[in-house]
Amino acid sequence: MSTSHPVVVVSRRGGDRIRAGHPWVYRSDVAGVEAAPGDLVQVVDGRNRPIAWAFWSSASEIALRAVDLAPRAEAPDEETFFRTRLQRAAAYRRELAIDATAYRLVHGEADGLPGLVIDVYGDGRATYLVVQTLSQAMDRRVDRIRDLLVDEFSPAGILTRNDPKVRRLEGLEQTVAVIAGEVPGTLVIREGSLEFEVDLRHGQKTGTFLDQRENHAAAARYVQGRALDAFTYAGGFALHMATRAESVVALDASAAAVAATEANARRNGLTNVTAREVNVFDELRELEIAGARFDTIVLDPPAFAKNRAAVPRAVAGYKEINLRALRLLAPGGHLISCSCSYNVGETLFLDVLQHAASDARATVAVVEKRLQARDHPVLLAVPETSYLKCVVLRRMT
Ligand SMILES: C[S@@+](CC[C@H](N)C(=O)[O-])C[C@H]1O[C@@H](n2cnc3c(N)ncnc32)[C@H](O)[C@@H]1O
Repeated sequence: MSTSHPVVVVSRRGGDRIRAGHPWVYRSDVAGVEAAPGDLVQVVDGRNRPIAWAFWSSASEIALRAVDLAPRAEAPDEETFFRTRLQRAAAYRRELAIDATAYRLVHGEADGLPGLVIDVYGDGRATYLVVQTLSQAMDRRVDRIRDLLVDEFSPAGILTRNDPKVRRLEGLEQTVAVIAGEVPGTLVIREGSLEFEVDLRHGQKTGTFLDQRENHAAAARYVQGRALDAFTYAGGFALHMATRAESVVALDASAAAVAATEANARRNGLTNVTAREVNVFDELRELEIAGARFDTIVLDPPAFAKNRAAVPRAVAGYKEINLRALRLLAPGGHLISCSCSYNVGETLFLDVLQHAASDARATVAVVEKRLQARDHPVLLAVPETSYLKCVVLRRMT
């Protein structure tokens, strides 16, 4: 056992979890600790036998996030650890040959960098990085991370978008700051053949929904006739569908989102997109009363279930919008239905879709079950890395 690093003793259950390949140990499985917030610690069992190396959080229910899941006696060298994981993450993204100038470079646990998110935004001339340090350990090392990013990727600027609420669970404040170079107010990214304006400081997540990029392209493959994009944000699905549809109606409750969708449609010379500022729940009802019909419908609501207690209400919400969408969908048409609620798993989501179809008296076939884009990897051993479901249904009758 190393003597120079703080040590955290975990219960048998905590140790078993790490041995099964999951990097998290919950506070209830911590049996003893002598460490400061964000320390790199040696994880040992009740008999002082090494299990792993991990970052310690003094505040979160996720007390330990392992970075080396092997029972090594020696601590990993932090400089080497960060550099090699960043290089590995970048190599994977190169392998994906992403047809876009904006993508996720580091997806936390899934890239072996727990609590760290890094997104790349390029405008064709310069590249900017948006960083989120979501744990005490990553937050404490933000300067080191910045220096490595500058060294490895030479970005024109780095912005920390440390405003997600989850930082509160770590006892961290919510801030947004430029930590290297310069970062413009807005920039124009390319996704496939289309351009979108993104506001890195105020846009949702780190600017936009990079996790839906591959699903936007998939929707363009299914689209036909009249299309509806409910919960459009900046028009990601709507514009991709508009390249092949007769017409697209895009809905969002936010005036800024509707304005962004209209501006993005104009920027790309798409004249068949109509954006409306409405509540989707109300509008789907109104469209049904008006006897509207669509050949392709996308539903991409915000996460209805942010925690387990919210699941029953979320299920009711998903059921309602899917039921109403299926009533508006012409036979032979496609419903592309998304859920980004981690707490509503795939099995439950498919069950909700089946109940909605049954109530709508529609026979539907599952044509494709899709996930978040591949630059947001899903680790089989870490279910928490998989959150986005995108189910493509065909209305058979
Ligand atoms: C997950 S985002 C959509 C992302 C988008 N489809 C994309 O691919 O980039 C959810 C959007 O739903 C909007 N929204 C939330 N509640 C709504 C409601 N009841 N009616 C309409 N829009 C709503 C939000 O303003 C946000 O833009």
